[in-house]
Amino acid sequence: MHSPPNPPTRLGVLLSGRGSNLLAIARSIREGRLPDIEISIVIANVPDAPGLAAARDLGLPTALYVSRGRSRAEHDADVAECLRRHEIDLVILAGYMRLLSPAFIAAFPNRILNIHPSLLPAFPGLDAQHQAFDYGARIAGCTVHFVDEHLDHGVIILQRAIPVLDTDDAGSLSARILAEEHIAYSEAIARVAGGEYTIAGRRFIRRPSLPGA
Ligand code: GRF
Repeated sequence: MHSPPNPPTRLGVLLSGRGSNLLAIARSIREGRLPDIEISIVIANVPDAPGLAAARDLGLPTALYVSRGRSRAEHDADVAECLRRHEIDLVILAGYMRLLSPAFIAAFPNRILNIHPSLLPAFPGLDAQHQAFDYGARIAGCTVHFVDEHLDHGVIILQRAIPVLDTDDAGSLSARILAEEHIAYSEAIARVAGGEYTIAGRRFIRRPSLPGA
């Protein structure tokens, strides 16, 4: 007797720009590092986002909801409806340059992931890599976290750290952080999709299931 295969975890990816994190996740899926996970919809809020074109080139399902000129509540309601229609399990923010409305966050509790290019809680907000460089931080990195109602604040799923080199400038540091992001996001998605974790206060604790349990 074979037990039926688990249905894949369905990702909805939201982006506004370049889309290199989307491409890294798509590559992880293609290369078998994210088994049982699929990108079910890529949603952009900016018509000429290069990430939207890249998603189309990969043959991924895409949707465009232009946010400019619309209220946050209206725009988010349309995006949430699209995600529901595609039966999304996890919402992946990949360079989505929008604050989310409380209603949107409440609709996907602990199901929205974001990646931020600093070791939170240091350097939240825009241009985190430049902030870290200008501050003189000796260690930099990236954070994947659940999204809550505060900016760059939710429970941390994982972080990757790198040294800031004496030879770095803000550009080289950003590029090396981005390379870490591309590893971190897939790893975090695998951990969350695997479901073997608990959240205790602010702590994400991995709990591998016992064989035969
Ligand atoms: C990344 O640096 C990510 O940490 C931040 O926005 C950037 C998106 O880059 N949230 P890309 O569009 O995935 O290339």
